[in-house]
Amino acid sequence: MKFIIGNWKSNGTIEEKDAMFKSLKNVRTNNKIVLCLPFTLLDKNISHAHLGAQDISIHPNGAFTGDISGKMLKDAGVECVLVGHSERRLYHNETNDIVKNKAKVALDNQIVPIICIGETLEEKKTGRTMTAVKKMLLESIPDKYGDYIIAYEPRWAIGTGLTPTLEEISAVHETIFKALRGIEHEDTPILYGGSVNMDNASQISSLPHVDGLLIGGASLKSETFLPIINVVK
Ligand code: 13P
Repeated sequence: MKFIIGNWKSNGTIEEKDAMFKSLKNVRTNNKIVLCLPFTLLDKNISHAHLGAQDISIHPNGAFTGDISGKMLKDAGVECVLVGHSERRLYHNETNDIVKNKAKVALDNQIVPIICIGETLEEKKTGRTMTAVKKMLLESIPDKYGDYIIAYEPRWAIGTGLTPTLEEISAVHETIFKALRGIEHEDTPILYGGSVNMDNASQISSLPHVDGLLIGGASLKSETFLPIINVVK
């Protein structure tokens, strides 16, 4: 079983969400389909896919205007939540420490955190991918045991149409796997994200230690999302 997770980011209307779930109705797959929707589209009554969110407040409740708490997400039917997506790290100054705390809050609310990590173009160009990814991983995962998912998303591959080579993806996933094995967490699923489309999804998802895909742009429309689901075996 692989994970196929769509991240709608700041996109989508209720009508578009309804259309997507309607088209997912006819999909036959053994894989786990999740859609991480914006807060306005979180809907307990969806079927044919699992419900995910894109962020979680660090605070349990109270005077934090605009924040959505773990309890509220759980109440809305959310099963998993992205934490530390590179766009949150970049535009909202989320540090590894904040990401780790958000992951803990998710676990406290029985929501699976999908912890996102990935090197910058600068780190890649200077041969620091492995050290950067490993540091981010070990500083962003919660100390206490619980089920979480890791998403490796090279920052330079997000929304650019560029992807690492299959060999590069394999090497990073192996590094992440070994680091997780080192802390007795080798069963943690490791996803790849960054410019996944229907042409590269099959090859990337077949690599060793790639347990699924995290998909941005191509998850927004059934014409591009469904073919990905169909090619991932
Ligand atoms: P794209 O698939 O649009 O490159 O986005 C990847 C991503 O950021 C998923 O979280």
